[in-house]
Amino acid sequence: MSSLAKNYNRRKISFKKGKGSFLYSTNGKKYLDFIQGIAVNSLGHSNLYLVRELKKQAQKVWHVSNAFIIPEGERLAKRLTQKTFADYVIFQNSGAEATEAAIKVARRYFYSIGKKNKNRIICIKNSFHGRTIATINASGSKKMTEGFGPKVAGFDHFNFGDHNKLKKLINKNTAAVMVETILGEGGIKVIPDWCLKDLRKLCNKKKILLILDEVQCGIGRTGKFFAFEHSKIKPDIVPIAKGIGSGFPIGAVLMTKKVASGMVPGTHGSTFGGNPLAMSVGNAVMDQIFKKGFLKNVNTKSKYFHNELKKIKNNYPKLIKEIRGKGLLIGIKLNFDQTKFIKSLEKNNLLTIRAAENVIRILPPLNVKKSEINLALKIINKVCKEYK
Ligand SMILES: Cc1ncc(COP(=O)(O)O)c(C=O)c1O
Repeated sequence: MSSLAKNYNRRKISFKKGKGSFLYSTNGKKYLDFIQGIAVNSLGHSNLYLVRELKKQAQKVWHVSNAFIIPEGERLAKRLTQKTFADYVIFQNSGAEATEAAIKVARRYFYSIGKKNKNRIICIKNSFHGRTIATINASGSKKMTEGFGPKVAGFDHFNFGDHNKLKKLINKNTAAVMVETILGEGGIKVIPDWCLKDLRKLCNKKKILLILDEVQCGIGRTGKFFAFEHSKIKPDIVPIAKGIGSGFPIGAVLMTKKVASGMVPGTHGSTFGGNPLAMSVGNAVMDQIFKKGFLKNVNTKSKYFHNELKKIKNNYPKLIKEIRGKGLLIGIKLNFDQTKFIKSLEKNNLLTIRAAENVIRILPPLNVKKSEINLALKIINKVCKEYK
């Protein structure tokens, strides 16, 4: 009997080892892992370079308080700002903390310029920004908020794609619009580039901030460091997590100099956020992702993967409704509940995970090999054939 609370409906598999794209279960099976901790292990399991960098740091110093200067964190923050729109970074430990910090940064900015009432955040209904009390309310999902007490005030919602509602919601108390650049849990729904451009223009016109949650879609997953870079816009605030630690818990919020002006000493903090172990791994991930040709390779492999999946979709139109996503954040939308299909893929040694709207999420590591993509395609084809 497990002593863990029952807040997860866990699959009855556990693993003794992972290497790259593969996981080895305790009962002797070898799985092609296209979940990778839900877009977390950006460089696959047990990446040798990351292990080496983590070990090196572990032998030096594990943890010191943020009351001191942490050189590894200074370095990672510098690199994140040099490579992106951002001027400043605050480190956290998870995605929810990063999005919650993003909300705080936006509100504190307006507070610091004397606009205390400008604190409302507009979000997409049934999006996903985390599981803290504030972020479940930001997500606007009945399922996630039910039973958790009074609604946290300050969030307004519109349905994905309802631009008129979004415009109507903006008023003098609005501080920011916060959306996932690609809705992950919500069903791999990509916000088109033209829409992101218009959203940026709208936020400029209304003098409000744009927060793009890149916790799931960022850090190279779409073939650019950030998914919004495809649209060439610049947000004001971006929470990140998952891929930047490739399995080591790291969260961060990136921001412009303008909005960072509100975050004076004492306004935010974290005991563990930015600790030397996490920062060493973050730097090691950056070393790999910005290696010459790495992101280009993600693009090439993902184009191939998408094209081949579209061919399968065309062969099985009764089963597959749509191939969604960008880069290696891929969704297969079925015409029916996806649970059994995911189970069949698992029986054939391919691990995938659900998202909303009957979508199966495919999240290989960014350094996946073409042969591994081919293996996944073979298994997906086989399961489709069984369903016919
Ligand atoms: C877009 C997005 N934001 C925030 C989160 C929350 O991250 P965490 O589970 O690390 O708190 C997630 C997690 O899946 C996510 O996909």
